[in-house]
Amino acid sequence: MRSTTTRSRTRLRLAGALATVLVAAGIATGPAAQAGEQHGPSHGGQPTLADLAQRHGRYFGSATDNPELTDEPYKAVLGSEFDMITPGNGMKWYATEPQQGVFDWSKGDEIVNLARANHQRVRGHTLVWHSQLPDWLTGRTWTAPELRAVLKKHIQTEVRHYRGKIYAWDVVNEAFNEDGTYRETVFYKTLGPGYIADALRWAHQADPKAKLYLNDYNIEGIGPKSDAYYKLAQELQAQGVPLDGIGLQAHLALQYGYPTTLEDNLRRFSRLRLDTALTEVDVRMFVPADEAKLATQAEWYRDMTEACLAVRRCVGITLWDYTDKYSWIPAFFEGEGAALPWDEQLAPKPAYFAIRDALS
Ligand code: G3I
Repeated sequence: MRSTTTRSRTRLRLAGALATVLVAAGIATGPAAQAGEQHGPSHGGQPTLADLAQRHGRYFGSATDNPELTDEPYKAVLGSEFDMITPGNGMKWYATEPQQGVFDWSKGDEIVNLARANHQRVRGHTLVWHSQLPDWLTGRTWTAPELRAVLKKHIQTEVRHYRGKIYAWDVVNEAFNEDGTYRETVFYKTLGPGYIADALRWAHQADPKAKLYLNDYNIEGIGPKSDAYYKLAQELQAQGVPLDGIGLQAHLALQYGYPTTLEDNLRRFSRLRLDTALTEVDVRMFVPADEAKLATQAEWYRDMTEACLAVRRCVGITLWDYTDKYSWIPAFFEGEGAALPWDEQLAPKPAYFAIRDALS
């Protein structure tokens, strides 16, 4: 039987080895991280994803949601590894204007305040979307002048509230169908396609310094839906409408293949003098995950990161939360999950190391 001293030495060695692994993985372990201090080379000199991205003039972000903010280990990584934060739900219409003309900033403010305390910037998400609308808006019909006034008031009140605190707004989210036709939302049906230009103009009036984006999924590669954005961007520019960027959500799934035209697609928007960003990245798979699936997933994260770095106006990458513990996927796609670079125990997966490699 081994002596107590041998056992405690072994324990110490194991703890040391674990700390080395965590530090190598960029997982903050020290008191600074636990206090949610600024990201930076504060843990053993190991640069964070944000530090690495900044060396390329890019950001590396994560979405988060209010209920998760009681989870201190989760918060420590959120506060240390990233330099851009997106509220996953807290700034949506149902949350911010639950009754007509009655605004509630509590959820958005909580996330903005946390981000500011951690010296992180914020992407505002989202002002105009057909989903997660309040009942008062969806439960009745509107004339065009009525809905126009409602939309203008919502956009301008929200953007004004956060004026100076938001790096970029997803002004209109998911405006197109897969075939590139306009999605028949209440806004489109009541106001026509001009609601997009109006929304951008109203947002710009309320915070002239915020970058204004159109944001959608399945527009990573070149195809009818991303073509629709390309064409709309040109039309808006010709009309002098304020538009700064296109957000490619990048909710990928192993079973559908990698969007190999991503880099070319980013480049064509750059040529229009528009920024681009990967705004909601995750790569889902059928669970359980195995080594082969995780390896492919890691390749995809690497490829996406490299594509963004290769195109000057691709300004940054945001994960749609960073850990499988809080991913939206299992609730929406039965049998799928494991989409993020950190697992449910907050341990880094091969995807995490692949992103580091790409950024290094
Ligand atoms: O707030 C209620 C809570 O009161 C209730 O107990 C609970 C029971 O299901 O539901 C809660 O609402 C959920 C909400 O998230 C807040 O957690 C909704 O059911 C759920 O549907 C909703 O999901 C969000 C989803 O958008 C809605 O479409 C996800 O969290 C959010 O990550 C996801 O984000 C979207 C982006 O905004 C746009 N792009 C796609 C992306 C993924 O769908």
